[in-house]
Amino acid sequence: MPTSVTPPMPEVITRAADFRAHIETRRTARQTVGLVPTMGALHAGHASLVEAARGDCDVVAATLFVNPKQFGPGEDFDRYPRGLDADRRLLADAGCDLVFCPSVDEMYPAGSATSIDVGAAGRVLEGAFRPTHFAGVATVVLKLFNLAPADRAYFGRKDYQQTVVVRRMVADLNVPIEVVVCPTVRDADGLAMSSRNAYLSPAERVRALALSRGLRLAEQMHAGGERRASAFRESIEQLLTDAGAAVQYVAVLEPGTVDEIAEVEGKAVIAVAAMVGQTRLIDNATIG
Ligand code: PAJ
Repeated sequence: MPTSVTPPMPEVITRAADFRAHIETRRTARQTVGLVPTMGALHAGHASLVEAARGDCDVVAATLFVNPKQFGPGEDFDRYPRGLDADRRLLADAGCDLVFCPSVDEMYPAGSATSIDVGAAGRVLEGAFRPTHFAGVATVVLKLFNLAPADRAYFGRKDYQQTVVVRRMVADLNVPIEVVVCPTVRDADGLAMSSRNAYLSPAERVRALALSRGLRLAEQMHAGGERRASAFRESIEQLLTDAGAAVQYVAVLEPGTVDEIAEVEGKAVIAVAAMVGQTRLIDNATIG
């Protein structure tokens, strides 16, 4: 009879110095290290990053830290979902060896003041609605990269602009870590998985499907020969509005960048953001 073995819970480290020591020991032993930064409240999207790291690296370290610096005033920092036990179980099952779960004081001791300005890529789209967001993301990600000198770090395509910003920072600041971007994991009905989906009522969850439906509509329009960015934008905005989602932006972008294009030649990334009730949701897809 086959028996199912429950993987052991990954060790939880709360001190930055201990985290660095663990990673450095592994590197000295010539083991490759994969890093998966998260804010916890983990789901299958996060698990897919850990699994990708497991496939590539000898050691997989995840970080769980709800980073206050990337939340603006009035955003959901206080109510962001938190649950270490469930997160550890998910991480164990996905093949994670080590979890760094620091306090806010451990990451930002009194007096800490430096912040990373990622330039223009951090000011548009999400940055236009969340002006301090990408400085907060870039600062915490660089801190994690410095603490855990990993070989590779894994990010989800779901947060497309975040991947653009992190790649920009890594290139600009000569960070010796390979950034790996993994596909967006979706629920069976198309909704991109997100920790914030937990905020949605059942009725709102139905409305939230408009984001992925809008992206699929764009794919169909492209297959039918449409190439004008304005046409994609207008159709998706209409679909979102009809579904009762309040559009924040729909943008047609040159892949790998946050530069808007007027005509789709080859591939394009379509990025959308909308409020469904009080919940802010984002999604994106490549067409072409
Ligand atoms: P968080 O929202 O917890 O996401 C952690 C990682 O999981 C990010 O790289 C994100 O893109 C990825 N992810 C989230 N949902 C996904 C999905 N449905 N499919 C695939 N990947 C998904 O993003 C952050 O945290 C923070 O900004 C962080 C990078 C940790 C810095 O604080």
